[in-house]
Amino acid sequence: MNRITAAITAVGAYVPDYRLTNAVLETMVDTNDEWITTRTGIKERRILKDKDKGTSYLAIRAAEDLIKKNNIDPAEIDLVLLGTATPDMPVASTAVYVASEIGAVNAFAYDLQAACSNFLYGMSTAARYIESGRYKKVLLIGADKMSSIIDYTDRTTCIIFGDGAGAVLFEPSEEGFGLIDEYLRSDGSGRQFLKIEAGGSLMPPTEETVRQKKHFVFQDGKSVFKFAVSNMADVAAKIMERNNLSHEDVHWLVPHQANKRIISATANRMGLDPSKVMMNIEKYGNTTSATLPLLLHDYQKQLKKGDNLVFAAFGGGFTWGAIYLKWAYDPK
Ligand code: UT7
Repeated sequence: MNRITAAITAVGAYVPDYRLTNAVLETMVDTNDEWITTRTGIKERRILKDKDKGTSYLAIRAAEDLIKKNNIDPAEIDLVLLGTATPDMPVASTAVYVASEIGAVNAFAYDLQAACSNFLYGMSTAARYIESGRYKKVLLIGADKMSSIIDYTDRTTCIIFGDGAGAVLFEPSEEGFGLIDEYLRSDGSGRQFLKIEAGGSLMPPTEETVRQKKHFVFQDGKSVFKFAVSNMADVAAKIMERNNLSHEDVHWLVPHQANKRIISATANRMGLDPSKVMMNIEKYGNTTSATLPLLLHDYQKQLKKGDNLVFAAFGGGFTWGAIYLKWAYDPK
């Protein structure tokens, strides 16, 4: 029997309708379209305006998109993994609620948290369950309502993030499609540079923490940029080297969408033509856990069976890494 690999066999996505443009941000904080565009590549982000809807809403819509478009019976799903930095609640796994709402009645479910590397690490986790031979259908969702943890008076963060969700289904392949190799890294010395300081066990919420805005994302952008730009390129180069992939062998780079300049640096290091680099940061900004599946969704009509994809991400923690995956199907 051939070795079982974990292939992506379906993709779904959801973004809210409301577009927060650079022009609108100009009326909220001291910024301008030119600065945002040249420093980040972002033109607009989607925001979930409904106050009574959390990340689960985005995740459910993305999963339902996948289920409907691919005629999946949700009762056949074995496991639902949700990567998110913005769970509905600190306790009561959001994935469990999502699984129930989409009718995945025979699945178990849990959340993953590794900031902007959520989806990348989640791919690794999903693949292990499939490769074990024990599970046949693993639904991996990346979803974040970043607008719930952003201070819209802080120009250093509010211009970057957006809301969204994407989902992929992993199934066994005996023809060698799917996840081939991964190189995942982390470094705890980075947690001071990108964090939400309060609300956890180290600094439980108080009136003071609320007053001091410590429940919002803080980012020392320059420091994160320095780490991200070198580390994302390093791991992408490493995964190519380790698998004897030349720039010609790589069909697509699927990079976390944090900053256009970080993406370009990674592509340059890999020797890739810009036409092979998936990019939609201008439309959605940084959606944290959703960037990678949203790219797959937007580019899926161009993906062919056998294409070599290199995924790369960098996020808070720090967490980062690269994954080499062989695409399993022609456009449906
Ligand atoms: O996804 C998780 C990982 N996150 C990342 O990978 C993000 C990494 N970091 C970045 O992408 C970039 O550092 C930012 C986009 C966040 C910032 O860009 P930068 O080129 O590093 O700018 P900076 O922070 O060095 O700021 C340059 C100047 C500063 O003014 P002074 O001190 O030079 O007078 C800032 O105060 O730009 C100012 N600035 C702004 N100006 C207009 C900061 N934010 C803004 C703004 N509009 N929104």
